[in-house]
Amino acid sequence: MILAIDGPAASGKGTLAKRLAAHFGLPHLDTGLLYRGVAMALLDRGDALSDEAAAERAAQVLAPALLDDPRLRERAMGEAASVVAAQPRVRAALIAFQRAFAATPGGAVLDGRDIGTVICPEADVKLFVTASPEVRAMRRALELRTRGQPADEAEILADIRIRDARDAGRADAPLRAAPDAELLDTSDLSIDEVFTKALALIAPAI
Ligand code: C5P
Repeated sequence: MILAIDGPAASGKGTLAKRLAAHFGLPHLDTGLLYRGVAMALLDRGDALSDEAAAERAAQVLAPALLDDPRLRERAMGEAASVVAAQPRVRAALIAFQRAFAATPGGAVLDGRDIGTVICPEADVKLFVTASPEVRAMRRALELRTRGQPADEAEILADIRIRDARDAGRADAPLRAAPDAELLDTSDLSIDEVFTKALALIAPAI
């Protein structure tokens, strides 16, 4: 069973994906980490984020082991990731790894922006997880503070709006619900409620 979970930044898709993976005993890939990893490699080497050839090389040699680096979760890395993620050669270089992960015998859970539309159009279940920008900014601020990082909610909201516009506006694999995706608005739901709703949406497919 392949579960494709897409949605904008801080919509709750990562939390949901992790929980569903644990529930069904499936491996989980947070594909945002791949783009964050490419951005981090460029920043570490002093290469420009706009250097598509350098970004493509970084994507080609990205070692999955690097995806544990805590710096990947920093706010600035999400912003940098969305810049490199708009480059078609970077996206192309990351497709094979994601499809191989999805092909794990028994199935897998992948979350990102284009899983249901580009990476796994044949997924058994596609969920498109959304929430209002204000709710997402509040959640992201809370998450950062919990990790001891500073968080200005107004700044985070501005970042979220910029990132949404860049992710939805790019030509290659824009953030978009697949036509056959189930929409799940989490604005007024607790984590438990989101999980319960997701299970109900998945039930017919299993
Ligand atoms: O999900 P996360 O916030 O970690 O993703 C960081 C950035 O990586 C996103 O803003 C998006 O530009 C890019 N991304 C993508 N396609 C994916 C996952 C993430 O373009 N499947």
